Amino acid sequence: MPILVTGGAGYIGSHTCVELLNADYEIIVLDNLSNSKLEAINRVKEITGKDFKFYQCDLLSKDDLITIFKENKIDAVIHFAGLKAVGESVSIPLHYYHNNITGTLILCEVMEMFGVHKMVFSSSATVYGMQQCVPLHEELPVGATNPYGRTKLMIEEILSDVYVAKNNWSIALLRYFNPVGAHSSGMIGEDPNGIPNNLVPYISQVAVGKLPYLNVYGNDYQTNDGTGIRDYIHIVDLAVGHIKALERVMESQGINAYNLGTGNGYSVIEMIKAFEKASGREIPYEIIDRRPGDIGISYANASKANSELNWSAKKGLDDMCKDSWRWQLNNPNGYEKEKILDRNLK
Ligand code: NAD
Ligand code: WQD
Repeated sequence: MPILVTGGAGYIGSHTCVELLNADYEIIVLDNLSNSKLEAINRVKEITGKDFKFYQCDLLSKDDLITIFKENKIDAVIHFAGLKAVGESVSIPLHYYHNNITGTLILCEVMEMFGVHKMVFSSSATVYGMQQCVPLHEELPVGATNPYGRTKLMIEEILSDVYVAKNNWSIALLRYFNPVGAHSSGMIGEDPNGIPNNLVPYISQVAVGKLPYLNVYGNDYQTNDGTGIRDYIHIVDLAVGHIKALERVMESQGINAYNLGTGNGYSVIEMIKAFEKASGREIPYEIIDRRPGDIGISYANASKANSELNWSAKKGLDDMCKDSWRWQLNNPNGYEKEKILDRNLK
């Protein structure tokens, strides 16, 4: 059963490819490498001992996509490809709308052209907007506060319209909470460009000595210690969620949103402490003002994924921190071997 994975060289995509290969799926991976490295693909092959086709291709290139569908018999698509940096989306919204939305439109057109109607889509808990009614469940009203979030919301709506028009489609909208951690091999993980925007990659770089200290964005939220609470989910649990969603879309028709989270929330201070424990390093931090657009508390009600997909997160905070740390320590410059070489030469 061949599965096309768009954005498969990225953080979540690469971990999902490992789980797909381990579950004996045949995969075809497409990525333009705009936010990832070919080395991630090599490492997926190394971890699993399995080979697969990789196309360095942009979703916006319809002709290339048609070639991929002609060259391979595809049964379903897991669609990760997209740009994801909230701040950048505010600065270059047209680029975000074009890449994420036009890319998805072209993908759907080509899928329709080749009679492929099964899709698992990377949505985000960001579609709950400023909603403070935790735990967040799928029936809550949705909204978005930045162009990135609006692309996710618009794509969810576009895919719903696609299903209304053609009931033979089957689509899972996976609303991820905060993915963290890395594969236990320490060979693949999150490799942000420049200074990380997200908490765990930032903490990791402080622990490894690349950044001097962490800025904690506000300690005046209505939480136990005043810092923001999020539902951090281990990347391998998240990846397994895609296999479960795939199984579901393969045997049904319809469109469904599922939260993929643990149902537990941890504060920024709790994350710092957990990471200190996992790494044995001190994480210096400074409290500064709230980050604009942040909410105080976000965590999932994941009971729908539990009952309908037979999925629940298995790994806890210690695994998340231990695995992030192993990846960081083994790959201080991410996938960029040349940079590691430079550093050794100095
Ligand atoms: P990532 O940037 O590591 O992976 C996305 C991949 O898509 C990258 O490899 C990039 O090169 C590729 N890509 C982007 N535009 C493309 C295009 N036009 N054609 C071909 N390839 C393209 O990000 P990730 O963290 O793995 O996220 C995967 C998906 O999950 C994204 O859609 C993201 O919005 C969504 N998501 C991520 C998070 C998170 O916190 N990481 C949370 C919720 C949702
Ligand atoms: C977590 C907590 C911060 C960095 C973002 C996107 C969301 C989704 C996941 C894709 C918050 C605090 C952070 C730092 C800090 N991505 N923090 N210092 O904001 O929940 O979600 O990534 O869909 O769309 O918005 O994740 O990791 O940035 O922040 O104090 O340097 O850590 O204020 O409380 P967030 P995050």
